[in-house]
Amino acid sequence: MPALVLLGAQWGDEGKGKATDLLGGSVDYVVRYQGGNNAGHTVVVGDQKYALHLLPSGILTPECTPVIGNGVVVDPSVLLSELSGLNERGVDTSKLLLSGNAHIITPYHVTVDKVTERFLGKRKIGTTGRGIGPTYADKINRVGIRVQDLYDESILTQKVEAALDAKNQILTKLFNRRAISADQVVEELLGYAEQLRPYVADTVLVLNQALEDDKVVLFEGGQGTLLDIDHGTYPFVTSSNPTAGGACTGAGVGPTKISRVIGILKAYTTRVGAGPFPTELFDEDGAALRRIGGERGVTTGRDRRCGWFDAVIARYATRVNGLTDFFLTKLDVLTGWEEIPVCVAYEIDGKRVEELPYSQSDFHHAKPIYETLPGWSEDITKAKTFADLPKNAQDYVKALEEMSGAPISAIGVGPGRDETIEINSFI
Ligand code: GDP
Ligand code: IMO
Ligand code: MG
Repeated sequence: MPALVLLGAQWGDEGKGKATDLLGGSVDYVVRYQGGNNAGHTVVVGDQKYALHLLPSGILTPECTPVIGNGVVVDPSVLLSELSGLNERGVDTSKLLLSGNAHIITPYHVTVDKVTERFLGKRKIGTTGRGIGPTYADKINRVGIRVQDLYDESILTQKVEAALDAKNQILTKLFNRRAISADQVVEELLGYAEQLRPYVADTVLVLNQALEDDKVVLFEGGQGTLLDIDHGTYPFVTSSNPTAGGACTGAGVGPTKISRVIGILKAYTTRVGAGPFPTELFDEDGAALRRIGGERGVTTGRDRRCGWFDAVIARYATRVNGLTDFFLTKLDVLTGWEEIPVCVAYEIDGKRVEELPYSQSDFHHAKPIYETLPGWSEDITKAKTFADLPKNAQDYVKALEEMSGAPISAIGVGPGRDETIEINSFI
């Protein structure tokens, strides 16, 4: 009954797509449990590059069943175009399972996301503009639309009308926008119903039966620990729970079933959108990390903010997720620096602080305290074992492991499937 969770240990874009794809051949199911098409997961297979937003990265492994769990928010038009894009490239997507309980991102959620950000002005979150927050808000407010509602026109119409009653007041009176017609929304959503029908399933039952039958289930997180609505840098977060507990609620699998929680950890740090980021660099080093690491958003094309590795955050991720392992990615990007600073603690209002402060004001004041580790200049992209790494790269990894609180069981030395050093097997 081994269930594994694979999640982002920082602010997203750690390389979850690559790590998931790497394990795809050894698992039976890959499940997205939260988030939506705000995610952008890159998978490189040979000379082919795929950018996945809503579909689990296991979709690229023919033996694996991809599942979109109840905790995901689904934009049907994005899902269908992602499926047809993959079909055109020869990927078989017929095994996909979509939870009937997943909530639907409608055009009005996308509109509300965009106008809210505009309204916030300087205080904006820097969302991906995909309607994620407003869809989760409706879910919690109990005025959401679920996948199963597409198959009952009368219920769908009642629900869309109820949701739009209040929203149209806000759109017209507060945001000065035109009202959205419920009939048009219903018509559009009904247009997706038959195309989605073959995928809709009771995914909770399927996954629990699979675990009973000793199948291997991998939960693929979107976003990252510091973007978690409860445990992240609120309010500069996404509106779901990417942390390990989210896999249980977002897929309907009990915590007793989860045997391993793998945190994907970049060898440095990046962030997209607004919010505090203690190790952010505004100098040539930051620009070099962005250039060498190709740090540009897969979903919105925005430049990612870049900075040195932050061990306080890694320790925090270990704690709130109960991490059993780390998968350290993009070590190759650090090749060429003579010295590499690593943040080991913060200085907050003159005091040294070892752990992530719970107070938002304190975190906004946190200044990184660095230790400097010696760098390396040898190309490491061909390394297959830990011993193949130059001594200083080995020491960098060991230092990060020591500071972060869980074993580093794999190391990424390039974007490709085979550009990975496996230290401990995950399955
Ligand atoms: P995700 O959202 O966590 O799946 O990560 P993204 O796909 O948004 O960003 C990670 C980027 O780093 C992608 O372009 C990957 O192809 C790339 N990548 C992943 N692992 C490695 C690695 O070990 N080395 C290098 N150079 N690139 C990597
Ligand atoms: P993956 O899965 C990085 C960020 C946005 C914004 C905040 C809220 O590729 O790691 P939202 O649209 O979710 O309401 O935006 O969260 N964000 C991400 N940053 N990687 C992601 O996904 C992200 N998904 C959302 O930039 O700051
Ligand atoms: Mg990404």
